[in-house]
Amino acid sequence: MSKPVVFNQTVLRDGHQSLAATRMKTAQMLPVVEKLDSMGFNALETWGGAIIDSCLRYLAENPFDRLRALKKLSPKTPHQMLLRGQNIVQYTAFPDDVVRAFVKCSIDAGMTNLRIFDALNDTRNLKTAIAATKEFGGHAQGALSYTVSPVHTVEAFVQMAVELEQMGADSVCIKDMAGLLIAPVAYDLVKAIKAKIKIPLSLHSHNTAGLANTAYYAAVTAGVDILDCSIAPFANGTGQPDTLLMQEMLQGSGRETKYSKELLFELTKYFEGIYQELSAYTSPDNERTDVGILRYQVPGGMMSNFLNQLKEQGMGDKVAEVMDEMTYVRKCLGWIPLVTPTSQIVGTQAMMNVKMGRWKIIAQNTKDIVLGKYGRTPGPIDPDVLKLVCDQTGQKPIEGRGADLLAPKMDELKKELAAKNLPATDEAAVLYAMFPQQTEAVYNGSAKPEVKTAAPKVSTSTDIAKTRRVALTVDGVRKDILVEEYK
Ligand code: CO
Repeated sequence: MSKPVVFNQTVLRDGHQSLAATRMKTAQMLPVVEKLDSMGFNALETWGGAIIDSCLRYLAENPFDRLRALKKLSPKTPHQMLLRGQNIVQYTAFPDDVVRAFVKCSIDAGMTNLRIFDALNDTRNLKTAIAATKEFGGHAQGALSYTVSPVHTVEAFVQMAVELEQMGADSVCIKDMAGLLIAPVAYDLVKAIKAKIKIPLSLHSHNTAGLANTAYYAAVTAGVDILDCSIAPFANGTGQPDTLLMQEMLQGSGRETKYSKELLFELTKYFEGIYQELSAYTSPDNERTDVGILRYQVPGGMMSNFLNQLKEQGMGDKVAEVMDEMTYVRKCLGWIPLVTPTSQIVGTQAMMNVKMGRWKIIAQNTKDIVLGKYGRTPGPIDPDVLKLVCDQTGQKPIEGRGADLLAPKMDELKKELAAKNLPATDEAAVLYAMFPQQTEAVYNGSAKPEVKTAAPKVSTSTDIAKTRRVALTVDGVRKDILVEEYK
């Protein structure tokens, strides 16, 4: 227990993804990259998640060029990226050859640590990415997507961590994308996982509800090896805990970190300037600790999209009923975690159930989940719903991995690129597979960086979808449900 904990530095990825809509430009990073490299962090998180989409869509940057530029100025520290398993950095599955090529291109461009997760925690969706990372010389970190449900027990997460180690992962991450992890659970989870695996364990959380600092502290006392921290003002709120704050909290714990305070103050000052420059994309809603969860039961703003949708359907008076139905639908669909795209699917199905009667109409996306096309659900699908869907579609649930049904695509992608007079390289092809128009615009030079002065309307594709626990009183019974928020 005496071994000090180490920090990953997320300011160049999740920090601004969470607090400034992923809009930090490469030019705004370069002046401090050498300084960050000198500080001895376990890793610098610089890439993946929504970065690639944002570079192509909003900043007119080639994301691989960004990675190379950052790596050149920070060669000493490993770089970390977030990869959505078979979905790469998109929301639907890609064929294995595209996943492999993406991993290889990332490592060739300077990436070292690939953090790989699946929204359903279906380890089959992590297999190709983990194997490719190992093959091409990277560090494969398998992540557990943390969520709260009757089937998401400590035992289930421990089992998944063990499975990831057996699959060849070099480390494991507890990825609490919604900031739901409370200190006692963090302690139990870390203790239990550390007892069963030999590889390092890291914790990633968000301070949205003000829970992450104490969860981190509890995890440190339970023996976690690595914590993800950012640098204020791209820290706290919906982002990671602040590095300085976390370091201070650990004084006297026996596992203190010793990152230069002086440099951290300098960096905070620098990033305050950048935060100002990005003010069109920042919001007080993201900066505050959302006590609405505790005080109003349904936090304002959080479900604004969904509430609007209900109003449009003339169901503004049925909010509580629909929220209750969401829990029921989620249960019938095997307690799937609510992150994009499953959150929209569950919400829409719940709305239809309330409006027309349960399962009178089943949406196509719901059918796809039932038929296993998104992956294996954490719990079993309700047998009655399964029968309904099988009868309606004449199909049976797929046995294997969704991506097994996908034909290789790299050759075709390169042909398309060549036909457009664009470079038929692996890099261009993997980007083109995910973001065709945006990639074309960046490669042919027609892309223009977005100029915004007012508060932006952020499209869902670059948002992190977050789930949050909401206490809701329905018919006098208090229930916890998970809902999604965009930011
Ligand atoms: Co995150």
